[in-house]
Amino acid sequence: MSLPERVVLVGPMGAGKSTIGRMLAKELGYRFLDSDRIIEERCGANIPWIFDVEGEDGFRQRETAMLDELSESQGTVLATGGGAVMRPENHALLRKNAVVIYLKTSIEQQVERTRKDRNRPLLQNDDPEGVLRRLFAVRDPLYTKLADIVMFTDRKSPRLVVRQLVNRINPKTPRHKRQRRKEGRQHVPGTQRA
Ligand code: S3P
Repeated sequence: MSLPERVVLVGPMGAGKSTIGRMLAKELGYRFLDSDRIIEERCGANIPWIFDVEGEDGFRQRETAMLDELSESQGTVLATGGGAVMRPENHALLRKNAVVIYLKTSIEQQVERTRKDRNRPLLQNDDPEGVLRRLFAVRDPLYTKLADIVMFTDRKSPRLVVRQLVNRINPKTPRHKRQRRKEGRQHVPGTQRA
């Protein structure tokens, strides 16, 4: 596989998409983009507020618009929200010019990693584990269908996951060449450097 224009990370809440995405971008010399954070910046409000005021449907509309815009980007690693696979029209947007990576994570890990979180409206209830189980049942087949690479993340450090991903994405590029590409890349205003 030669280096793709974009790398897109999908997977459930607590899979580590942002942490791993940021590190992977650095390693590839790509820019890191996080669709949820950009939605928040554009909207001037956080995701709980958007869910409160516009409902989940309002958030999903913003998400589709954002995925559409970001599908044109090049040299980027995109971390998506866990529900990005729910709208069929998002599928082509996620896959456009991209290697799609599913960060697959057990329910136990998802529960552990989201336990103290207050920024995920779908989990602010009496049974977050039950919600994660139900979402997994619906979404796991979608993540799997969309993905070029399925990477298990349980009991692995982010560093190990990133190393394994770099090998899967582009096993032939030696480290010094990735470094050179990284140094050559320009910062584009309005985006976040990894
Ligand atoms: C959601 C996941 C969240 C965020 C929103 C909805 C979901 O993103 O987009 O709270 O439907 O699974 P993370 O997967 O980054 O937590």
